[in-house]
Amino acid sequence: MSSVRGEFSSRIGFIMAAAGSAVGLGNIWGFPTQTASNGGAAFVLAYLVLAFCLAYPALMAELIVGRHGQANAVKSLQKISKTKAQKAGAFAVGFGGIICAGLILSFYSIVAGWMMTATLEPVAQVASQDTVANWLSTQSLSRDLVFTAAFILLTVAIISRGIENGIEKWSKRLMPALLTILFALIVYVFMQEGAMKGLKAYLVPDFSLILEPKLLISALGQAFFSLSLGTSVMIIYGSYISKKENIVALGTYVTLIDVFIAFVAGLLIIPAMYVAQELGVQIFSETGQLLSEDTLVFTVLPALFDSMGDIGLFIGFAFFALMTIAALTSSISLLEAPVSYVVEQFGLTRMQATFGMGAIITLVSFTILFNFSSLFGFVIALTTQYGQPLLGLMCCLFVGWLWNRTSLLKEIEQGSPEIGATFFWKIWPWYIKFVCPIAISLVFLSKIIDW
Ligand code: PFF
Repeated sequence: MSSVRGEFSSRIGFIMAAAGSAVGLGNIWGFPTQTASNGGAAFVLAYLVLAFCLAYPALMAELIVGRHGQANAVKSLQKISKTKAQKAGAFAVGFGGIICAGLILSFYSIVAGWMMTATLEPVAQVASQDTVANWLSTQSLSRDLVFTAAFILLTVAIISRGIENGIEKWSKRLMPALLTILFALIVYVFMQEGAMKGLKAYLVPDFSLILEPKLLISALGQAFFSLSLGTSVMIIYGSYISKKENIVALGTYVTLIDVFIAFVAGLLIIPAMYVAQELGVQIFSETGQLLSEDTLVFTVLPALFDSMGDIGLFIGFAFFALMTIAALTSSISLLEAPVSYVVEQFGLTRMQATFGMGAIITLVSFTILFNFSSLFGFVIALTTQYGQPLLGLMCCLFVGWLWNRTSLLKEIEQGSPEIGATFFWKIWPWYIKFVCPIAISLVFLSKIIDW
């Protein structure tokens, strides 16, 4: 069924790939820790509302631009632009998204490399390789360089195989594995002392916190990161969807899966924190603040696993394998953004483009590692707090203001002929024109003025 440029061969293939992009460290690490540090259930509620009411319409905009353009992000955005200035703007937004994806991949690979070391450490322990286990668990430049490169190589290996045999095939394998490990861990943690206290903190909201600007801003930022918006990734994945598919239904499934997995990850992490506390591990500072996010994943949870005896080695392995898999299904989408551009724009083969881009991203990652204290936080802030909201906003403006309403409806109607009569069509164009741009601008401004 694939065309020359590549296409997802089935609905399930697209859903697994796009949900794989969306479900990542942002869901399993970011969402639960943000929940814990932003008032528990109040954050969950705000996140659910914002994810469905703002991030989902923005995701639809990106998918629709891609499917209409049937090309990389730059070309797809240019296809809906009329004047020269609009086309230049389309280039800036599309290319900006590709750069943003490349930069996210370079810090994401460093973090994923840490997840790989934490996965392998229990294996080294079981094999009585104490020196190796020690090297894996102690932060060092050599260790980080090796595992960052290894993770990028894994990503390159999948992307070089193309859409159907690479992205789709591996997403279909990895996503069920991720779900299985996640649920198995939840069952185990729920059986431990302290889990119910955590569950209560997670599910019973303190409504007085819900309209806190900081909470809303964090929740919206988290929803945008989680749905992989503003990076051109969803434009490209949209371009691999067949015109016969109901694109609105597909986007809805992806959003539901993404939000569901973030919610379920919270069911694991928050109770696990309270189980750790029950076992004497400190999770909150003296002032009642949650210990910092990286401390949570790399100190609190391993301390919990250690306290479980031998089974803890296995649980630790499963947990970090879960993190690595989640990171991999996201990183393949991040690498596809620059690769698809280079293939279509410069006529390189997929193999050449993938290895070339992989090499550039490795260089950027290494530069970050060599200048860790000045660059790591900077690149994260630049891409997730500025790049993604700004580019996501521009994309909504393109669809809402530049795209003619009739031809927009025509595009969505392919694969879903009844769309014109639905609630989605009545409300979505209005959302994309006004509500999303204003809401995203607010998030963006709040970051600049540090609300
Ligand atoms: N959505 C991924 C996560 O939640 O971890 C991260 C991500 C992937 C962000 C792809 C942006 C992107 F384009």
